[in-house]
Amino acid sequence: MKVLVIGGGGREHALVWKIAQSTRVQKLFCAPGNAGIAQHAVCVGTGAEDIEGLLTFARSEGVELTVVGPEAPLAAGIVDAFEAAGLRIFGPRREAARLEASKVFAKEVMLRHGVPTAKAAVFDSPDDAKEYVRRHGPCVVKADGLAAGKGVVVAEGPAEAEAAIAEMMEAKAFGAAGARVLVEERLYGEEASVLALTDGETVLPLLPAQDHKPVYDGDKGPNTGGMGAYAPAPVVTPELLSRIEQEILIPTIRGLKAEGVTYKGVLYAGLMLTQDGPRVLEFNVRFGDPEAQPLLYLWAGDLVEALEAVADGRLRDVKSAWHPGAAVCVVLASAGYPGSYRKGFVISGLGDLPPEVMVFHAGTALKDRKLVTAGGRVLGVTARGRDVREATRLAYEAVGRISFEGMHYRRDIGQKALKNGSQ
Ligand code: AMP
Ligand code: GLY
Repeated sequence: MKVLVIGGGGREHALVWKIAQSTRVQKLFCAPGNAGIAQHAVCVGTGAEDIEGLLTFARSEGVELTVVGPEAPLAAGIVDAFEAAGLRIFGPRREAARLEASKVFAKEVMLRHGVPTAKAAVFDSPDDAKEYVRRHGPCVVKADGLAAGKGVVVAEGPAEAEAAIAEMMEAKAFGAAGARVLVEERLYGEEASVLALTDGETVLPLLPAQDHKPVYDGDKGPNTGGMGAYAPAPVVTPELLSRIEQEILIPTIRGLKAEGVTYKGVLYAGLMLTQDGPRVLEFNVRFGDPEAQPLLYLWAGDLVEALEAVADGRLRDVKSAWHPGAAVCVVLASAGYPGSYRKGFVISGLGDLPPEVMVFHAGTALKDRKLVTAGGRVLGVTARGRDVREATRLAYEAVGRISFEGMHYRRDIGQKALKNGSQ
């Protein structure tokens, strides 16, 4: 079978690496890919958001399964376009992808179907929003639309909340995405990511994971796309995972179905584990990045079989199969990230790493036959071990051998898991 993966980050490298192992795959393409992906797939110059170009390519190459990594093409309707052309594709249609593309839509779905989440008020007028935050306690201001992970401000007080409203609604920092805002009650607890495969009927949760969004150790500094992740996250016990499945994942998928929206693909619930139980902070409609890296490194089955089953609506036939132990991914980033950064620095130290370690590439490229940095997040150093402690040790040993100018990373990935009872 010919398979096309769309995207070019660490998540897509993990997808491509896993898909390439399937005996069902004869030819693997990735658009646009990166230097690491090029070791397992033919990289195609087409951008991830060029739906027409991707459709033309898939048709002319006879691609039999397309797997979409990032949210932007999903929100733009790539699945609708491929399905209309009779092509098989993994991911939700545009209407279902609104769960991520519109936080107001997601909140309304959750309210209609009794899915636990933070209370929120929606505003189209900055003056009304400001008036509201002046009268309420600690709150979180969220731009309705996609803002590359930057459209959320956890405000320490009304002044900060008002400034966030002004930035989103008046200065239009995120364009149309900030024309509406949600003001949410602030929740407290530990965060976890629970992703599930679903064909709109069956829900198959993956191992619970934890991301590390802030750029510095101890969860300090501005949010990033994610500086590291591990799975399974011990804070989500099997009992809690089952509760999340019953109270959050299944009601969301069934609720959408009852409204005529069949959700296929990955449903990613970003959760706050509060004293009163799990609450949804956000839904994403794709694999998380970096969460996909430890999750796919631990997935023991044939991923293509599972992805096809989702696309064909027969996920009930698939069981999840995991390698024992845990996996940890430490992201190596460019100096300046998540702000502006320079590219083109030579990366060294990737040879001769132990077999438990897989380095997934995010922003990398080949220049004059040398591997160089080409993005904010550069590499995801991912290791598998008996438990989080061992996987963490192996990942950091590998990190110690890798270098590029300005490289920075968090040194505390995995620590929360150790605190939460993994040996
Ligand atoms: P989101 O993109 O909605 O997941 O928000 C990004 C980050 O903001 C989350 O990972 C949380 O750390 C924080 N956050 C979002 N909503 C809330 C909330 N209601 N209470 C506390 N923190 C939140
Ligand atoms: N790691 C967070 C995300 O993928 O949105």
